[in-house]
Amino acid sequence: MSAASASTLRASDGGAGLPRHVAIIMDGNGRWAKARHLPRVAGHRKGAEAVRATIRAARELGIEVLTLYAFSSENWRRPEEEVSDLKGLLRHYLLGEIEELAANGVRLRVIGEYRRFGPELARLLDDAIERTVGNRAMTLVIALNYGAQDEIVRAARALAEDALAGRIDPAAIDAETLDARLDTRELPPPDLLIRTSGERRLSNFLLWQAAYAELLFVDTLWPDFGREALFAAVADYGRRERRFGGL
Ligand code: IPE
Ligand code: IPE
Ligand code: MG
Repeated sequence: MSAASASTLRASDGGAGLPRHVAIIMDGNGRWAKARHLPRVAGHRKGAEAVRATIRAARELGIEVLTLYAFSSENWRRPEEEVSDLKGLLRHYLLGEIEELAANGVRLRVIGEYRRFGPELARLLDDAIERTVGNRAMTLVIALNYGAQDEIVRAARALAEDALAGRIDPAAIDAETLDARLDTRELPPPDLLIRTSGERRLSNFLLWQAAYAELLFVDTLWPDFGREALFAAVADYGRRERRFGGL
């Protein structure tokens, strides 16, 4: 799709228009590698290239928030070698990309218990978050050691502690109060949630926030995803009618 049709998308009325927040479950790296008789890590490496292309395309489209599911709280169940490869790639990616992200006005946020990746990675992430805090062109949210159930449990625990200490009245707790305790606080909810690789499940991703998200499952394996695939996904979203329970 051309830049001209990107602006047409933005202007389109009748359909849902341009999503403010796109969230992606980046799946299929292993199968991409397997199909080429390559080790799984080769799929993850190629997946990192797809991340770069997708971030650029999201900026081009004018998407406000892009959330990428990079490592789930359940991915620790994978062999140690794969977890270590993924950590290494994350470190490499951050070291290599943070300059471009910062220069392009991208603000980085992380959701999930990322400190479990160890002090070195946590410091890299904290520095990148701090460095880009004033950027406004787009917010890039990376989900690292993220699990929606874990996120909701942590929020519930924080509310219980506040109630016990007398800081809040339990009767006054509503959806907004809980929302404000989630890792995604102050972000708009995802409008469009994409999962690649043909799997049709949420795998513990943004269970609360995606209450009214439009879901799109595509067969493309994540390493083959990029500008064209994101533009097609956004065009599909633009044709949908959202109702939010109303008429
Ligand atoms: C997604 O690809 C990357 C992560 C979950 C870290 P997978 O590694 O899950 O690839 P498949 O699903 O085995 O093909
Ligand atoms: C979901 O993919 C997590 C990420 C993309 C980071 P998985 O490959 O881990 O999901 P399952 O195990 O197939 O549900
Ligand atoms: Mg997978």
